[in-house]
Amino acid sequence: MAYKVVQWATGGVGMEALRGILRNPQLELVGTLVYSAEKDGQDAGVLCGLDRVGVAATRDREGILAMDADCVCYTPLTPDLDEVCRILESGKNVVTTAFLFYPRFLPAADLRRIEAACTRGHSAVHGTGINPGFVGDLLALVMSGMCRRIEHVHITERGNWSLYDSPELIFDLSRFGCEPQETALENHAYARFMSGLFLQSVGMVAQGIGTRLDDIRTLQELELAKAEFKVAGRMVRPGTVSGQRYRWQGLRDGRPVIEIEALWTIGPDYPAQWPKPSEGWTVTIEGDPSVRATFLAVATFDRSKKASVADHARGPTIATAMHAVNAIVPLCQAGPGVKTFLDLPVITGAHAGTTC
Ligand SMILES: NC(=O)c1ccc[n+]([C@@H]2O[C@H](COP(=O)([O-])OP(=O)(O)OC[C@H]3O[C@@H](n4cnc5c(N)ncnc54)[C@H](OP(=O)(O)O)[C@@H]3O)[C@@H](O)[C@H]2O)c1
Repeated sequence: MAYKVVQWATGGVGMEALRGILRNPQLELVGTLVYSAEKDGQDAGVLCGLDRVGVAATRDREGILAMDADCVCYTPLTPDLDEVCRILESGKNVVTTAFLFYPRFLPAADLRRIEAACTRGHSAVHGTGINPGFVGDLLALVMSGMCRRIEHVHITERGNWSLYDSPELIFDLSRFGCEPQETALENHAYARFMSGLFLQSVGMVAQGIGTRLDDIRTLQELELAKAEFKVAGRMVRPGTVSGQRYRWQGLRDGRPVIEIEALWTIGPDYPAQWPKPSEGWTVTIEGDPSVRATFLAVATFDRSKKASVADHARGPTIATAMHAVNAIVPLCQAGPGVKTFLDLPVITGAHAGTTC
């Protein structure tokens, strides 16, 4: 019997999730929640470029909440904890790429609300993705299993966002192309929210490797555009933000022992003074032994296949969506409550291999 699934929001990640749900024989799409009026009423299969599936996308939240479903794949632009609690209370599990990666790091009152909603709905919630949700937490944790002693865990994410298919996320939420004071952490609520998410990954790694943290902190550095350029249909003016470097650190005895570092740019330039790790993600554990892995998600590594830059740029979005979709069956079988990678079995592409 297939698990009944609702896809909640059909942006870049949600659209890839829809395609993943529809090709998984253990999952049955029963609903699709959209925000935009143009998508309301459209067939979900057609919406994601596949055949008709007979499920109409809807903006009717109450209808979705009343629906009989096992799990909601929740991928809106900005998440809403009240909304997620209502979904959990309605008896549906929630897998999300938007937040709740390590809810034990949330304010106690928020965590209690989530746990109460899970108890009432006999449901479970899991946050996942590519980063947060894989590289800076799960991959680092898996690699830690190779070590006798760990001194320092350092994860880098180096990426140019120019081809990311969401101007809302690039400009409106993340404030590239804005004046530096608008993007500065103290004036930028979304950057503080996002920093909280990466700090959850730091917390999960700390728990997983048995490290006590005395403190956590976020460091931010901005780089400004030197010349005008266009990204995602919008002009970026000189003197506005073209680079954002974050360091999310877990400290012990005043020293960072777990650090996730983001080196994000838009446009043609990479700041000369920034570190230059490989593009994509690198996880380094300094210890006994010291171990390192780099991670990429692209359209193909086979040079004989044709793939455009845009095809390659979709790789991380597909990976984000699929880590959520592939978590649905294990989550539905896990029993109620907050579930992190430390609680769930290994998430595999259980049906991805059927095309081998
Ligand atoms: N963990 C990770 O590694 C990772 C990686 C990438 C993204 N993410 C997160 O995943 C989520 C989806 O990302 P995305 O790239 O798919 O974003 P996106 O392309 O910008 O799409 C998000 C969708 O959210 C819906 N939406 C519109 N207005 C909204 C509002 N006011 N409040 C909430 N939702 C609204 C829209 O749905 P409809 O089009 O259906 O109307 C929109 O297409 C975001 O929260 C993002 O931060 C996580």
